Amino acid sequence: MERYAHITGWGMAVPERIMTNADLAEIVDTSDEWIRARTGIRERRIAGPKETTGTLAIEAAQAAVEVADIDPATIDLIIVATSTPEYVFPSTACVVQDALGALNAGAFDLSAACSGFVYALSTASNAIRSGAHNTVLVIGAETMSRVVNWEDRGTCILFGDGAGAFLLQGSEQPGGVLSCLLRADGSGGSSLMIPGGGSRAPASFDTVREHQHCIYMDGKEVYRFATRVMASAVKEVAQMGGLELEQLQVIIPHQANQRIIDSAARTLGMPEEKFVVNLDRYGNTSAASIPIAVCEAVAQGRIRPNDNLAMVGFGGGLTWGAALVKWDVMEKADISFWHRARRRASYEMAKVRSVVRRGVRQVEGMVYGTGPLRPPPEPSQMPPAQSPPRKQPVDGKAPPK
Ligand code: COA
Repeated sequence: MERYAHITGWGMAVPERIMTNADLAEIVDTSDEWIRARTGIRERRIAGPKETTGTLAIEAAQAAVEVADIDPATIDLIIVATSTPEYVFPSTACVVQDALGALNAGAFDLSAACSGFVYALSTASNAIRSGAHNTVLVIGAETMSRVVNWEDRGTCILFGDGAGAFLLQGSEQPGGVLSCLLRADGSGGSSLMIPGGGSRAPASFDTVREHQHCIYMDGKEVYRFATRVMASAVKEVAQMGGLELEQLQVIIPHQANQRIIDSAARTLGMPEEKFVVNLDRYGNTSAASIPIAVCEAVAQGRIRPNDNLAMVGFGGGLTWGAALVKWDVMEKADISFWHRARRRASYEMAKVRSVVRRGVRQVEGMVYGTGPLRPPPEPSQMPPAQSPPRKQPVDGKAPPK
């Protein structure tokens, strides 16, 4: 029997703090008019001191689990697409697994920059279709504010923070994720990158001084690349799924720039109304932008049952990808008060379990003579978004040698 991957839950989370274009104009030499005209962005959300990629991912995941109305222990696999993970390792997916009490899940992070959510959706769908997994949680989560150079007006105006999640479940009923297309062109890697902090340029005083842990971007090159690949990816993924462009009701593009979206709409000959756009309020939230846009479109009634959707992403790598989805969500009875209460209690239990397991490890360490585990150091500084950046812009286009 052939199996299909259906989206049965979805959820999003964004920080409360709003940073408007006017706020940015106090930090770097820019203006609301310039940002709106060149990008369409009016404001973005910025994580507060207690918010991280992990906390946003957990909140979005819990919302998706709520919509799907499942027990977190039934999740087989958790994939977090992110370029701003909680740590290099452990993965942010493990942080989510622990918080949800997803005791039977494997968990890993996926790195495909702003295309990450489409890559993760494709991986999840294939895992379900192969029969290896049945219930997969896919999350796109980012705190881009922690990796932008707040002195570089060419990049800091573009990005924002947030997370979105889908819960996918397998069934023999045709539908759900119909086709996926993933592509990469590593020759364009230097057009959009964080050069420092990897094995090539490990963290040092120099890498920090030179802002190598921040985003470097050749804006014009990325713009040209994005307009080239977006329309063709939508066409190709529709063809792979056996649909004509006219049969697509909604397009959910990566929310990078209004002009890039307009250009794709023109090339495809599709009305702009079919494109979901919320970048004016969130900026570019990288791997989180597509699921956040889907959640808002569903809440607004723009995505209706049995609509055919095309999601299309592009970004660092260079990578791009698209997914064709039949939004054949099953009508569910109202989730009972007891289900909600039990799930909330299970999250509290997950916290207790996590603390107990850490305690058991400490005791085991002493019993087996390896000594108590040393806790990791606390970050000694506030995240960059919190510290008042200087007004002088720097040229952030060329990655340092
Ligand atoms: N405010 C005011 N002026 C700015 C500015 C800002 N935030 N950023 C750049 N400028 C200036 C430049 O210095 C330049 O001035 P000059 O003509 O005196 O040299 C001028 O505006 C034009 O700059 P340019 O870089 O050519 O602008 P652009 O039209 O290419 O727009 C981007 C810049 C970044 C908005 C645009 O290239 C873009 O959106 N690229 C795609 C980026 C993207 O989506 N990245 C993420 C992909 S996942």
